[in-house]
Amino acid sequence: MKQFEKRILFDSDAIAVRVKELGAEISAKYPEGNLLFIGVLKGSFMFLADLVRHVTVPCCLDFVRISSYGNDTVSSGKLDIVMDIRLPVKDRNVILVDDIVDTGLTLSEYRKRLEKESPRSLEIAALIDKIARRERHVELDYCGFRVEEGFLVGYGLDCDERFRHLDGIYVLE
Ligand code: PRP
Repeated sequence: MKQFEKRILFDSDAIAVRVKELGAEISAKYPEGNLLFIGVLKGSFMFLADLVRHVTVPCCLDFVRISSYGNDTVSSGKLDIVMDIRLPVKDRNVILVDDIVDTGLTLSEYRKRLEKESPRSLEIAALIDKIARRERHVELDYCGFRVEEGFLVGYGLDCDERFRHLDGIYVLE
């Protein structure tokens, strides 16, 4: 198995502080609740699990599994919805949650799909906004950290399915 050097970028303490702030911000914005968090699998699983523990208003959860990369590090440019949400979006305050925005393809395309189902509101939360390879504009309503570039792993992010379990975010070098 290929060996990598990893350099810590955001440790678990820094992530916990930021995620708590985002959860509080969302809770304050939607006092009436009626929230539906939609996590984009697999990458968002850890961020979403931590985020909703800081949400103090009524909410539901659903998941979509989207794969745009396969096991490659270069985007195929095509959205592959492997498993779609089951809960209705109509009249809900929807927050689409992902670990990272890279080219922007995943969130911009899936957002369009959700808009057609008449949510009351639709916002996007991403832990990492990685800007160097952006091809599609994505309006991020909640963003954990902004980075220029780098292959990031940990806290849900993988390289060939490895490293998702790490509690910090690292750059592979
Ligand atoms: C990653 C990541 C985002 C997407 C971001 O998912 O979790 O969903 O790519 O890239 P983009 O902005 O260029 O579309 P991936 O397709 O690697 O699947 P995974 O979540 O299962 O790791």
